[in-house]
Amino acid sequence: MRIVITGKEGQVATALKTAASWTSTEVLALGRPEIDLEKATNLTEQLAALSPDIVISLAAYTNVDKAETDSDRAFAVNRDAAHALGEATANLNIPIIHMSTDYVFDGLKPQPYDESDPTGPISVYGRSKLAGELAVANTNPNHAILRTAWIYSPYGKNFLKTILRVSREKDELRVVSDQVGCPTSADDIAGAILQIAERLRSDPSPRLRGIFHVAGAGECSWAGLATHIVSTAEEITGRTTKVNEITSRELNLPANRPSNSRLDCSKLLNLYGFRLPDWKRSSRKVVLKLLTGNDR
Ligand SMILES: NC(=O)c1ccc[n+]([C@@H]2O[C@H](COP(=O)([O-])OP(=O)(O)OC[C@H]3O[C@@H](n4cnc5c(N)ncnc54)[C@H](OP(=O)(O)O)[C@@H]3O)[C@@H](O)[C@H]2O)c1
Repeated sequence: MRIVITGKEGQVATALKTAASWTSTEVLALGRPEIDLEKATNLTEQLAALSPDIVISLAAYTNVDKAETDSDRAFAVNRDAAHALGEATANLNIPIIHMSTDYVFDGLKPQPYDESDPTGPISVYGRSKLAGELAVANTNPNHAILRTAWIYSPYGKNFLKTILRVSREKDELRVVSDQVGCPTSADDIAGAILQIAERLRSDPSPRLRGIFHVAGAGECSWAGLATHIVSTAEEITGRTTKVNEITSRELNLPANRPSNSRLDCSKLLNLYGFRLPDWKRSSRKVVLKLLTGNDR
């Protein structure tokens, strides 16, 4: 299988390149500086030249807080580039997998969200990603839109790496406990994407198209995730760090986040036959990898 991904060095892109390197799948990456998706033109021609079997749309404006005051650029990448990729893949008659987010929801539902739940984003980022979902769905019916959440990995910038870094410098951390979600490993998402891509290529069934929730099994708050990270790190470093729970109001970030963004991933299990591993196991693996260099 020959896949083209957008976003060259992002967390999921890096994980996907690594996962594909253990298979016969060839990955070609489109991204800056060669292609700036804020002003992407002629995507059909550029993709045609690479002859992909499928396109995986990973690049996004992902700075949730900055997007509040940088709405045009967030929409240019998250909506307009998604639209252009949907059109280009439809022109080439190939499927597209497009990544989206738990932040399309308002967080008011008491239970985990499933794919049929109404959306209601409460941030610019969430609105721009929802617009991207619609753009892909409207341009290429041969799509799988994968909503994931709270991504961590050994690559790039993420909450897990920040907690590890800060816990080396401080004995106590303040972390919000009034947002719950499903932490998801970029490595686990990469494995899921490769399985979904193979199925989309070989099975034309409409049931495999549409929106799917693809997040780590289990749930926790950011404070719960931080506690798990520092206690796993303590096994290696012997250093204790206390996690103090605070509210989102105390943290006072520019963008609102849903207080509940847990994703129900039963549709993925029912139609694709798998689920992602538990967040505790996968995040432990990443912490140990970062601290020891070993995959255990
Ligand atoms: N991170 C999360 O917690 C999270 C949660 C839910 C859903 N998602 C979604 O999952 C997907 C992957 O997330 P991620 O965490 O892997 O992202 P990431 O690490 O932030 O990487 C984003 C990538 O997009 C590229 N990009 C941004 N603007 C671009 C532009 N104008 N032209 C070309 N490339 C551009 C970046 O390139 P540069 O390196 O050049 O900036 C970077 O490689 C995204 O669609 C995101 O919305 C993420």
